Amino acid sequence: MCGIIGYIGLKPSLPILMDGLKRMEYRGYDSAGIAVIENGQLKTVKKSGKLDALQAALANQSFSSVIGLGHIRWATHGAPTDLNAHPHSDCTGKIAIVHNGIIENLAELKAELKAEGHELKTATDSEVFAHLIEKYYNGHNLSEAVLQALTKVKGAYGLAVISSSEPDKIVAARLGSPLILGILPQDQPNQGNGYVIASDAAAILPFTKEVVYLEDNDLAIITGENYEIIEKSGKCNNHQKQHLDWDLTEAEKEGYPHFMLKEIMEEPKVVADSMRGRLIPEQGKVKLGGLIDVLPQLKSARRIIFVACGTAHYAGRIGEYLMESQLGLPAEVEYASEFRYNESVLEPGTVVIAISQSGETADTLAAIRQAKKLGALVLGIVNVVGSSIARETTAGVYNHVGLEISVASTKAFVSQLVILVLLTILLGRQRNLSEDKAKEIISELENLPDKIKQILEQRDIIETIAKKYAQRNNIIFIGRKINYPIALEGALKLKEISYLHAEGYPAGELKHGPLALIDATWPVVAIAPQDSVYQKNLSNLQEVKARDGQIIAIATAGDEAIKELAKEVIYLPKTLEILYPILAVIPLQLLAYFIAKERGCPIDQPRNLAKSVTVE
Ligand code: G6P
Repeated sequence: MCGIIGYIGLKPSLPILMDGLKRMEYRGYDSAGIAVIENGQLKTVKKSGKLDALQAALANQSFSSVIGLGHIRWATHGAPTDLNAHPHSDCTGKIAIVHNGIIENLAELKAELKAEGHELKTATDSEVFAHLIEKYYNGHNLSEAVLQALTKVKGAYGLAVISSSEPDKIVAARLGSPLILGILPQDQPNQGNGYVIASDAAAILPFTKEVVYLEDNDLAIITGENYEIIEKSGKCNNHQKQHLDWDLTEAEKEGYPHFMLKEIMEEPKVVADSMRGRLIPEQGKVKLGGLIDVLPQLKSARRIIFVACGTAHYAGRIGEYLMESQLGLPAEVEYASEFRYNESVLEPGTVVIAISQSGETADTLAAIRQAKKLGALVLGIVNVVGSSIARETTAGVYNHVGLEISVASTKAFVSQLVILVLLTILLGRQRNLSEDKAKEIISELENLPDKIKQILEQRDIIETIAKKYAQRNNIIFIGRKINYPIALEGALKLKEISYLHAEGYPAGELKHGPLALIDATWPVVAIAPQDSVYQKNLSNLQEVKARDGQIIAIATAGDEAIKELAKEVIYLPKTLEILYPILAVIPLQLLAYFIAKERGCPIDQPRNLAKSVTVE
């Protein structure tokens, strides 16, 4: 979603704001803007388009301001125009706000403000904040005015506000949308620290690793020298400082043309990092530190429900399969956006597991709140340490794969699958998974980083295939059993970054409809490793070939027979049936990447999408 940033300190604010916005570009990228207080005046510059457009608009301006706000937008209310870009101002032009979130009682508030004589100029919901604050502001009570304004608003916000009448402070507030306060090191002894407040740790990382996560209903008053966080109750609570464990290089492309390719190429390490310190091979066990406190409840769990969105949802589908096939434990997966409303009945013994890379997806957050209300034990598989979902779940497992920047999730998905296998072993050893079977899975997990490297070495072959098919209009992905969700994920990856029409199907379903589409213009990507449904897959491929469909097979190394059917074959090293998804998704990620590249698409920032969807 949108990214927001504010800086106050002793340094010129503009370079810090622009650096932060650049690092949050993946959150939204249809318009951007900044507001600084320069010689007692509020100066705002905002532009539709990518950040470069704002950069160009700022090229001939110089600011010495040491306080400012920045925003990068993913439009919800109002088209991505210069006018609708943030920051927004009040009627006096003295207040500037940046907002990430959504105002639900917009119509009512707008009508009220208009009746009171406020002139609202934009089509956004966020502008309302500026006018509400103006309404309660007397020129020296900014934090109280913000507090009063917030009592009127229904919805979600990460909000930062400045006023030229009080040029020595930023007021920020959070409800439902993340906000992190970065505490900068002192420039010199006895000088103020300087602070960066942002919706994303990536924007803070270049300046400091010391942070405080704001909680829902917190209001922060930040001056160049100090900060104060006030809870809803009015109590001051500056929360514990935390240390970001990410490396700045993770936020850089390091020579790769796109973050997506960089993140795919990191996957051997990602798999190793997701397992690090968690395997006990000699005992056929795994240790997941974050779950130790809930082991007794996990032992008596009678049903697992995974809740997630997007790519993480497909990981959940594989989780469902693992739980049922390996442990006989009833499991299901729900779209978080549906679970929050569909009035599920949760029997005692239900464990709800949220899967989320960002830990901030609004629907997933709402789903876990709903699950808690219904009495379930709620756990998380989350990448971003300290994120909302990580904090609101009772216990959980971190992916530990570092920053994922490309909007299309790749390495986080691979890690989610690894964690789900670890969870299967953990729950399995509490149940009937034999030590020998667990040892076999662990031993093969340890081989995965090398096997992934072998797939990545086929990068050029995959690029050549991608070039051949990049100008087609439609692609179907098929798979069976545990690889059916990989067909769905392959199709999602392709459509989100290349804008090609792609669909994922269970291979056996082709004949119930989609086969009618197939002719020589349709590529069919088939995930067909040598597993228990291999022969069934081959029969489906015969049906496709008979209709002239162009098969791109993802097959097991050494499978010569499949060459008879497929136009192209990408080989996976042999592995256990339950681990094939971890390998099979990688060529599909690369295929999507190279097709999008061939089509000239903005790979890391696909149109209309955002990395972290913090609105409903
Ligand atoms: C967005 C992203 C997807 C991601 C989904 C869930 O749609 O573009 O890549 O899979 O959100 O995000 P999460 O952070 O909860 O995994």
